[in-house]
Amino acid sequence: MIIAVDGPAASGKGTIARALARHYKLPHLDTGLLYRAVGQTVLDRGGDPANALEALAACDFTDDLLLDPRLKLAAAGNAASVVSAHPAVRQALIERQCAFAAQPGGAVLDGRDIGTVIAPQADAKIFVRATSAIRARRRYEELVRAGVATSFDKVLTDIKARDLRDSTRATAPLRQAQDAALLDTSYMSIETAISRAITLVESAR
Ligand code: C5P
Repeated sequence: MIIAVDGPAASGKGTIARALARHYKLPHLDTGLLYRAVGQTVLDRGGDPANALEALAACDFTDDLLLDPRLKLAAAGNAASVVSAHPAVRQALIERQCAFAAQPGGAVLDGRDIGTVIAPQADAKIFVRATSAIRARRRYEELVRAGVATSFDKVLTDIKARDLRDSTRATAPLRQAQDAALLDTSYMSIETAISRAITLVESAR
């Protein structure tokens, strides 16, 4: 069984995807991490994420980078959102994601284009959303807990900029697949969101 979970930043898709993977005992891939690794590699090389050639060269990162805690920070997220708009970067990362989805037994993948591009054949597709103010509040509280100095307004501005870039790019923009179930987590506890997601998967399979 392949489960595709898509949605914007801080919508809850990562937590929901991890919970579904545990529930169904399936391997899970957070595809955002791949784009974050490319973005971070460009930054580490002193390059510009908007430069397509530098971004493509950064797709040669090694797997150990995926464990780097810096990938969770806003700098990597913002760079990821810029490098991910280059079609050549998306192409370079497709094979890895499709191979993960094709494992015997299935997999859970979360990202922006899993239900539309990476695994259009997925057995269950969930599109997770929440208002930008609520997503910014969640992300802000997460950063404060991690000891990162920031402000709510900065986080909200970043989230809106990322939403705009992700949903207006020409290649594989963030959008709900036609056959994806919508899960709005704005006013839901994470426990409720997870149990709704399991119900959605059960009704789709
Ligand atoms: O999900 P996460 O916030 O870690 O993703 C970081 C960035 O990577 C997103 O803003 C998006 O631009 C890009 N991304 C993407 N396609 C995916 C996953 C992430 O374009 N499947």
